[in-house]
Amino acid sequence: MDYSIEVAPIETLPCDCIIIGIYQNQYQNQHQNQQFIPSGAGLSDKLQSTIATVISRGDISGKIGETVLMNVIPDSKVERVLLVGLGENKALSPKNYRKALSAAVLSLKKPYIKSVVCGLADVAVEGSNLQWNVRQIVEVFNDASYQFTALKSDKETESKLQKVIITTPDSGLASAQSGLIQGLAIAEGVSLTKALADLPGNVCTPTYMAEQAVELGKTHPGLSVKILEESEMKELGMGSFLSVSRGSRQPAKLIALEYQGGKKDGKPIVLVGKGLTFDAGGISLKPGAGMDEMKYDMCGGAAVMGTLLAAVKMQLPLNIVGLVPSSENMPDGDANKPGDIVTSMLGKTIEILNTDAEGRLILCDTLTYAERYNPDVVIDLATLTGACLVALGRVPSGLLGNDDELCDALIKAGESACDSVWRLPLWEEYQEQLKSNFADLANIGGKDAGTITAACFLSEFAKNFRWAHLDIAGTAWRTGQFKGATGRPVPLLSQYLIDRAAS
Ligand code: BES
Ligand code: MN
Ligand code: ZN
Repeated sequence: MDYSIEVAPIETLPCDCIIIGIYQNQYQNQHQNQQFIPSGAGLSDKLQSTIATVISRGDISGKIGETVLMNVIPDSKVERVLLVGLGENKALSPKNYRKALSAAVLSLKKPYIKSVVCGLADVAVEGSNLQWNVRQIVEVFNDASYQFTALKSDKETESKLQKVIITTPDSGLASAQSGLIQGLAIAEGVSLTKALADLPGNVCTPTYMAEQAVELGKTHPGLSVKILEESEMKELGMGSFLSVSRGSRQPAKLIALEYQGGKKDGKPIVLVGKGLTFDAGGISLKPGAGMDEMKYDMCGGAAVMGTLLAAVKMQLPLNIVGLVPSSENMPDGDANKPGDIVTSMLGKTIEILNTDAEGRLILCDTLTYAERYNPDVVIDLATLTGACLVALGRVPSGLLGNDDELCDALIKAGESACDSVWRLPLWEEYQEQLKSNFADLANIGGKDAGTITAACFLSEFAKNFRWAHLDIAGTAWRTGQFKGATGRPVPLLSQYLIDRAAS
């Protein structure tokens, strides 16, 4: 999709449809002053009165996300107008703004709409500015028009949208442009994440993930990519990670992506993403229903790749390292068995009481490996626990960590990126639950507080740096009719990196 910014009046730009926002209750106030976005002054009197007729007929009241497609515009060069409700005439909440935007794209999924001009950058949104608005337009349009066709014979997509022009007032051109750059970078990162995650486990194997990372490095010279093979991991003593892949015919890979946009010896921000390309549970086999969704257990790894792509595209002046431990978790004669004890790279022994708690087993060795980068902070992201879905549903990602400043920065970034997180406590009392009779640690902590005990396990391997953990089990993909990856938390992490670059 091609996005651009224009300062010209919306009606003068050739396209299949222009998008105009309207507020609610336009005729209930005495002055009957119509409230259109872009502001009435930017629209011709003729078009204003045509829209006023549509509104007065009651076809649209202006509630948030309501839409009407006007497909004949008398006495005008404009082909079509999409009216989008913006709710009451006051600053919108960021969430409602995104709601209005996605309603707009969804009603533009028509074969005859290939190019649009979007006038909604002008909308007043609480605590935001033009840069943010433009960025959201790109992110939301990109998200709503994404369709997975890689493995369908018929590559037809519902949305034929190819060109989006965003109109902006003259004065805001510079900030609109920088919003566009950010939006495009983040949208690309999100698309990469979704495209990888939506692939099935028989295509997206650890080897495939590694190949894609290498490819990313080739197409982006700023990014250097290294793949660690099982033999090297063995030498490093990654007994925990390797115990998971032992039950799989697919060799494990540890993918390292390095981006040096900052000072030569500046400490890097290290992102670690769980790249479990299929989680059958191992010998502690998962129930059959919905098991297909465990192809999404690599979403953390995909989001690390997506975030690095976004960072490279924005040319952020930071040093960033992405680490993706990638493996399958399968039942097999050689697989981990409940009761097995393995030795991690850190030297701690782990009693595997449930082979389905494999994410922490591959992450713990990767956290130890992260130490060699002398990290400023380490953030891991993982579809780690079903318990996170129980606790928080699919709205925020779970956040836990050993550093308040880092956690606060992530909470703030999540809010401004509309990719929220909610912090859970990582108190020492919970550590009790991970005691093992036979090893230094057990890999599960019983049925209580599953998300917290999983993070407690990881925290044992994150003592030497500032660390935060994002449990994205509820936010990385949608289930049901619209099953598919969301690309989260790429917007959150991109925002965190943007904030870090600015400070
Ligand atoms: N990948 C799963 C977590 C998961 C479950 C994510 C459902 C999304 C939806 C993880 O490897 C796992 O199986 N966790 C177990 C841990 C348990 C055995 C302590 C879980 O959550 O059931
Ligand atoms: Mn599992
Ligand atoms: Zn898993």
